[in-house]
Amino acid sequence: MRTIVRKINAENMTSEDFAEAARLLREGRLVAFPTETVYGLGGDAFDPTASRRIYEAKGRPSDNPLIVHIARLEELENLCEEIPEEAYRLADAFWPGPLTMILKKKDCIPKETTGGLDTVAIRMPSHPIANRLILEAGLPIAAPSANASGRPSTTKAEHVIEDLDGRIDMIIDGGSSDIGLESTIVDLTVSPALILRPGYITVEMLKKVLPDISYDPAVLKREKNENIVAKAPGMKYRHYAPKGDLTIFEGADANISDEIEKQAEMRLSEGHRVGVLCSTELAGQMKEVFSRLCASEYGKKAFCDKDRDKNEVANSENGCNNELVYFSVLGSRSDEGMIAQKLFDALRSFDEKGIEYIYAESFSTHDLGQAIMNRLIKAAGYHIVQV
Ligand code: TXA
Ligand code: MG
Repeated sequence: MRTIVRKINAENMTSEDFAEAARLLREGRLVAFPTETVYGLGGDAFDPTASRRIYEAKGRPSDNPLIVHIARLEELENLCEEIPEEAYRLADAFWPGPLTMILKKKDCIPKETTGGLDTVAIRMPSHPIANRLILEAGLPIAAPSANASGRPSTTKAEHVIEDLDGRIDMIIDGGSSDIGLESTIVDLTVSPALILRPGYITVEMLKKVLPDISYDPAVLKREKNENIVAKAPGMKYRHYAPKGDLTIFEGADANISDEIEKQAEMRLSEGHRVGVLCSTELAGQMKEVFSRLCASEYGKKAFCDKDRDKNEVANSENGCNNELVYFSVLGSRSDEGMIAQKLFDALRSFDEKGIEYIYAESFSTHDLGQAIMNRLIKAAGYHIVQV
């Protein structure tokens, strides 16, 4: 199948821009589109064939339900029943935006869309292109994140092309997603409500509306062997994972830096490429480590890229990235929004560079940090080492 890629400028769009995408969706075909969180892979939420196509294109297990995207609050009542008053309060506070609510579904939503469940996940995105696409198609749109199953979610059209070119009908390119992490998921079929997936809407923000809300224990899981079953079926799978082997180090900066140097030396001496995923603060601390690695026997053998502008994540503080040692600096610890926005792109960039061993620092779990660490820990397959 040939995948059409269509650029749309959110500031200057017309119905005409959406005509083909809307037609494809009405015909049960698949269209990837930008949202404020990550790109979604959309299909008609009422059409079981479209949902089956979504699972097939992603290579996703069909027991993992899809999120249904709407553009108007009135739609909620067409799709769900027994809607508690809490849902309206959350919608009032956070919709349109990066919040997904689990509610009891009506029969019009086929079980193919909800992975066999009687409940459905509903979200009203705030991205103007997503909103317009739903309205132009005249349908609620079922959309998981537009990545191949298991890989990091996509925050740019280029990522979607990487994973799904030739497998779907169209990709709408609307630039980078602002938030970069998937929506917060809240289960309202239980009382008090539970957070099934942390996201940009933090527990502190939710508690202002629903004081009794708490996390599903699976969200806070840090050990692979802890026997907790996630309530969001998708959260049980290995996820967000780069191809390289990712380890998280937790401890003081100096200890993390020492440990990364030790591990990196070992892997380099075995002929592997190593990557470091860190904040500006840790990168500063590691400046000398980086110089030592570059100057070492294996470091010297590597081509040293002097043209820093060509490194997407180049940071002048680190001298340069070379082919064997690659630093991906997400931003300052004080700017969690930036770290969230760049995380999936950084994980993908290690793959692009053929990095085999990746070392990451552990980030704070305050506010948005909870969502950042939730994704990072899954990407690492729960491989966290205290140093
Ligand atoms: O930000 C987002 O939420 C993005 C954009 C595209 O909207 N979508 C997204 O979808 O992240 P996906 O399919 O990658 O993640 C949906 C998660 C999965 O973990 C799934 O198991 C859970 O939501 N989920 C969906 N329906 C559910 C239900 N009825 N009950 C419990 N969990 C549900
Ligand atoms: Mg996903």
